[in-house]
Amino acid sequence: MKYDFDTILDRRHTNSEKWDVKSNELPMTTADMDFKTAPEIMQAMKDKINSGAFGYEYPNQEYFNAVAHWYKTEHNAEAQTSWMRFATGVIPSITASVNHLSHAGDNVLLMEPVYNTFYNSILNSGRHALASQMRYDQNSYTYSVDWEDLEEKMRNPLTTLMILCNPHNPTGYVWTRDELIRIIKLAQKYGVIVISDEIHGDLVLKGPDYTPTFSLPEDCRQNLVTLVSTSKTFNVAALHAATGIVSNSILRERFTRAINKYEVAEPNLLAIPGTIAAYTHGADWLYQLKQYLLSNREYLEAFIKKNLPQLHVVPGTATYLVWIDVSEVTDDSIVLAQKIRQKTGLIINPGTYYHGNGNDFIRINIAYPLAQVKDGLHRLAKAIKN
Ligand SMILES: Cc1ncc(COP(=O)(O)O)c(C=O)c1O
Repeated sequence: MKYDFDTILDRRHTNSEKWDVKSNELPMTTADMDFKTAPEIMQAMKDKINSGAFGYEYPNQEYFNAVAHWYKTEHNAEAQTSWMRFATGVIPSITASVNHLSHAGDNVLLMEPVYNTFYNSILNSGRHALASQMRYDQNSYTYSVDWEDLEEKMRNPLTTLMILCNPHNPTGYVWTRDELIRIIKLAQKYGVIVISDEIHGDLVLKGPDYTPTFSLPEDCRQNLVTLVSTSKTFNVAALHAATGIVSNSILRERFTRAINKYEVAEPNLLAIPGTIAAYTHGADWLYQLKQYLLSNREYLEAFIKKNLPQLHVVPGTATYLVWIDVSEVTDDSIVLAQKIRQKTGLIINPGTYYHGNGNDFIRINIAYPLAQVKDGLHRLAKAIKN
């Protein structure tokens, strides 16, 4: 391998959100990776720092060209650069959109279980989170859309927005093109705008690639805001850079107003060079990263099958987050997570955070050198066996 994913990083005392824990503890929680980003990205950032001039900036055409080039070459998906807007993150874009594209008291629709921070964007803005529960099959450990329920919730006149997670966090599910078209068409029928969060789109580890929604046929794009970012792909969350892609010109103007009104449309000094370098020179690094993550995931699956047969891994193909059914060992995943931490120092996310049937699950981040994944799994086995 050209790039190094095996070296254990010391992220304590680096302002890392997840590493502010006791010295014996191992946090496999927050969705960032314990790998250094691609050297090509670091070099572009260093060059910028060396320039020494850090005045106000705007996202230049080269930035948007890099986004378009990436989606064309990596996902065979076309977007015009005129459809794109820079924003300081996916969640800031969602919060701004919720505030500007819906009204206080409206429903914002989600499919649960789902990434917990969506609830902050919705509830802090005085909107209701309206959930359609995904169906869970206890034999195959897979989820599917409850179409009847989803339609009923869209039909509700107070439902004006839907936040879709494509691919889905925490299940790792990659929506098919047909499912995406069906969801978006259904939303159109009831005048619902769909915000598609595609932050994990570059991290499909095997099987069919994900479908960037902005590349769907024109009639599916009229009520659609797509949000993409290098944040998860290249482990640059603190870069605070994302791109909104909106092909409908009226909706695009409204989205532009939203991110300007909430002041989330201007880049910091590293956002533009970092993103351009990632999208222009990052493909090889990402390819190797995905191989590494897939092998970590396969290791985890084999380990659990052999040592913890009472746990069941939900078979997702995207993200470095693994969603594990723990219903045979607990009826309260918060209590389970606390016990695991107390007994072994392993910190994982209780599925309860993600609503829906999450109380029967835990979420583990496997974007770590293999040695740490092994350490985490041994701690998990020790705690569960106790
Ligand atoms: C689905 C999803 N959306 C958004 C984010 C955060 O995006 P940002 O840091 O660009 O606000 C995360 C981080 O975990 C995520 O999993």
